[in-house]
Amino acid sequence: MDKKVSKIKNGLRGWLEIPADKSISHRAVMFSSLAKGKSLIKNFSNGQDPLSSLKVFQAMGVDARFIDNRTLEIISTGQLTPPSVVLDCGNSGTTMRLVSGILAGQNFNSVLIGDESLSKRPMKRVIEPLEQMGAKIISTDNHAPLNIFGQQLLGIDYVSRLASAQVKSCVLLAGMFAEGKTSVTEPYISRDHTERMLKYMGADIISSGKTVTIAKSQLEPQIIEICGDISSAAYFIAAALIVPQSKIILKNVGLNPTRTGIIDVVQSMGGNIKILDKREVSGEDVGDLEIEYSELSCCTVAGEIIPRLIDELPVIAVLATQAYGDTIVKDAKDLRNKESDRISTIVKELRKIGANIEEFDDGFVVHGKTKLTGGAEIETYHDHRLAMSMYVAGLVCEKEILIKDFDWVNISFPEFCKCFENLIY
Ligand code: S3P
Repeated sequence: MDKKVSKIKNGLRGWLEIPADKSISHRAVMFSSLAKGKSLIKNFSNGQDPLSSLKVFQAMGVDARFIDNRTLEIISTGQLTPPSVVLDCGNSGTTMRLVSGILAGQNFNSVLIGDESLSKRPMKRVIEPLEQMGAKIISTDNHAPLNIFGQQLLGIDYVSRLASAQVKSCVLLAGMFAEGKTSVTEPYISRDHTERMLKYMGADIISSGKTVTIAKSQLEPQIIEICGDISSAAYFIAAALIVPQSKIILKNVGLNPTRTGIIDVVQSMGGNIKILDKREVSGEDVGDLEIEYSELSCCTVAGEIIPRLIDELPVIAVLATQAYGDTIVKDAKDLRNKESDRISTIVKELRKIGANIEEFDDGFVVHGKTKLTGGAEIETYHDHRLAMSMYVAGLVCEKEILIKDFDWVNISFPEFCKCFENLIY
């Protein structure tokens, strides 16, 4: 489906409940599948990526059913059964990388496959540490399909070159099935949903600075309530900041400090964003956000903040087109390894609508403020976040834009358009 997007005249107004966090939904389904007994997941994401994780565990004997359209009941023996089919991770890097850690230490063999985009994404980052633990994985030049031959694993102390929650989580999950202790040390702290949820479910896991250590653990089933996804909220935050006359409230947004880089960036650009009613839900920080149209100025985004906003960088590029001065993003080379090469795709598509943006090897610079002309056809490259970022850009373009294959948004946020339409007057 192609989507036409045109300029908003009278601002975005009202409030919105942000749908469930994708990262936390993946983990809820995976960890509940490993816990012996009945778990309840409230507000499970209806994005295709978490559903890919769910299907993978159903194929390994886990009894999972929806009690209503957002409440998932998972009943597990605590043991996975050998799958009789290949396990399809769809478009989801989180599914493939985390599940490979779980499967490496099972007493059966399995095969993980993915779609065209996922099959191009690098898997060496998880294969390498897993092999150090004694895993046996055969891949096609470090890409999916991954043939995993379950082995008895041994704990390691892994020092990762990347600040990647997927790598960290993969190694920690393998560590749950390994002899001895396993630790992962990152250059900067990446999102810590795995650590928080494993602790919430009784695992023997501790974090100290940039190192997390886990020992063999049996998880206990829990009731897990999933908060709204700050990465989904980011499109509304950006839109409200750049569309004149906007003022909105976003409810139930996850505010885990390892994910709130977008709020820090918006504040440093002079954006008017307030956190209301901060609380804790199932071991995660949650709050409501109030955002108002603002005059923005440039900022530099680099170093330790990058993993705290890695998925928001395409929409930050959009925001930067409406900020005065040169906004610089660097130290973000791994953005090239996402659902698309997000450095080159965001630069290419924003240029089509008149943005003044230059590409670097590890980021980009946006020279603002620019009047976006629009009037172009936008490609989405199998990338939900590129599609949603360009939608936000379209709201301030002089002429209508046409975003091709917009249904890629279903990967994380099927109700994206409906949510926006409810705020447009
Ligand atoms: C995720 C971690 C991030 C992020 C991805 C989800 C996760 O990837 O980009 O969308 O749920 O662990 P990396 O860990 O590879 O940076």
